[in-house]
Amino acid sequence: MSDWQIFKYAELDSTNNKALKLADVGRQKIVIQAEQQTAGRGRRGRSWSSLAGNLFFSQVFAFDMQSIGALVIICSLSVLQTIKDFFPQADVSLKWPNDVLLNQAKVCGMLIEKGEGNNIIVGIGVNVAQSPENSVMMYPTISLTEAGYNVNKDSFLQKYLQVFDENFINWQQNNISALRQLWESYAYRLGDNIVVRQNSQEEGGIFGGIDENGNLLLQQNDRIKKIIVGDVFYLGK
Ligand code: BTN
Repeated sequence: MSDWQIFKYAELDSTNNKALKLADVGRQKIVIQAEQQTAGRGRRGRSWSSLAGNLFFSQVFAFDMQSIGALVIICSLSVLQTIKDFFPQADVSLKWPNDVLLNQAKVCGMLIEKGEGNNIIVGIGVNVAQSPENSVMMYPTISLTEAGYNVNKDSFLQKYLQVFDENFINWQQNNISALRQLWESYAYRLGDNIVVRQNSQEEGGIFGGIDENGNLLLQQNDRIKKIIVGDVFYLGK
């Protein structure tokens, strides 16, 4: 059993919003979970379609924002390992920066935000029961149930928190190196030609993995460019 304190709500606008408010009053190592979200938020100002039966939660804990890259690696890997723990045969992979894919379609997204003081908010949405229409998303989407994997979402959350704690301690006691290598071993389409879109700008190159700070490594002729933010589109080998 993990020592995270879980606060469960029937409905919230966004678990990240609630977490940001609670982080204000200095609570730590808490999880805000909601059965439903009326205004779920995604990365880069997008909305997160919060369908019934899916898992929505936000972790609040003290964290040094300078190590945010390590946290991105730890959290996405932890969701992937949780799926693997329940369903060892699942075809799961990681799409930079922090999407988890199942059968090459998005099953989980996360939104990491800075809270008051030294608190960080890690908001995670897992498509457990349903997935949004592909037409409203930039990428194909899937849910665990649609892929034939049935799991209780509260059990999923408990397992995730345990795996997260193990990875977090591993990182604190060692460094991010082993977790980074593990992340890359699950990276979706390493070595593919990709385009990274950042607002109106585009950068092309070969997806060469990630560095110790979670930045994407883009190979461009004889140089490697580090990408800090953006959306990745795959163009094939
Ligand atoms: C993304 O892929 O764009 C990130 C999606 C993050 C969604 C989760 S659901 C729980 C938490 N609350 C929110 O409003 N957003 C995150």
